[in-house]
Amino acid sequence: MVYVINTIIILAAIAIVKLLLISVFFYSDVRAAQKRDPAAKSFLEIILLYQGLHALIYYRIAHGFYKIHLFFLARLISQLARFATGIEIHPGAVIGKRFFVDHGMGVVIGETAVIGDDVLLYQGATLGGTGIVKGKRHPTIGNNVVVGAGAKVLGNITVGDSSYIGANAVVIKDVPPNSTVVGVPGRITKQDGKKMDVSLDHVHILDPIMQSIEEIQSKIDKLEKK
Ligand SMILES: CC(C)(COP(=O)(O)OP(=O)(O)OC[C@H]1O[C@@H](n2cnc3c(N)ncnc32)[C@H](O)[C@@H]1OP(=O)(O)O)[C@@H](O)C(=O)NCCC(=O)NCCS
Repeated sequence: MVYVINTIIILAAIAIVKLLLISVFFYSDVRAAQKRDPAAKSFLEIILLYQGLHALIYYRIAHGFYKIHLFFLARLISQLARFATGIEIHPGAVIGKRFFVDHGMGVVIGETAVIGDDVLLYQGATLGGTGIVKGKRHPTIGNNVVVGAGAKVLGNITVGDSSYIGANAVVIKDVPPNSTVVGVPGRITKQDGKKMDVSLDHVHILDPIMQSIEEIQSKIDKLEKK
């Protein structure tokens, strides 16, 4: 009986120490989650139940091992994290402060991805490569960027600060700062707070369906004017 009570006390003490360590070392990340998720009710709820935070904690530990070239151990931790949270962050990725993954499941972040501060990723977001090239092959994401649910940002491209990647967009070209990108392939719909005239966007290739719709629209406009 004494043995059982002692075990419970030790486990409770370990849990409390863990909570305290997370509160101290991940305070800004927990605050970021609280700020970004309107559904978050309390600090404790985030620490105990948010997979995005758990994945980040695993990542920070794994990244530490990666930096001292303990690659197998680093990868082992990241795979355990993937199993526990459904979020796969390669330990080689570089992630800034106050990073938050909301809902989490299905997020993939590649080895050479670089992520700035205050970045938010929703479920199913991928920061991936376009093929099997070596070297820097994953995106660089600026500060204060949001990557919507299911969006794919692929290749060694740059997403500028304060940009918003819409849900399910596929982005394969650089995105200037303060832009909103939607669709497949991604096209800029807003920049510096102003709506973009898609037909004037020569940097991003339009998709054929969009082009057909625009042609039909312009014909309708001409007919209406007659
Ligand atoms: C892109 C997004 C940020 C909207 O930005 P916005 O600047 O407010 O854009 P608007 O709503 O004014 O839409 C601009 C145009 O893009 C279209 N659009 C918006 N989101 C889109 C998307 N994800 N995919 C394709 N088109 C989209 C709109 O229909 C609109 O088209 P129109 O100009 O022809 O009418 C938002 O729609 C989005 O996708 N957010 C992701 C959020 C998310 O993943 N949440 C998950 C929570 S669980």
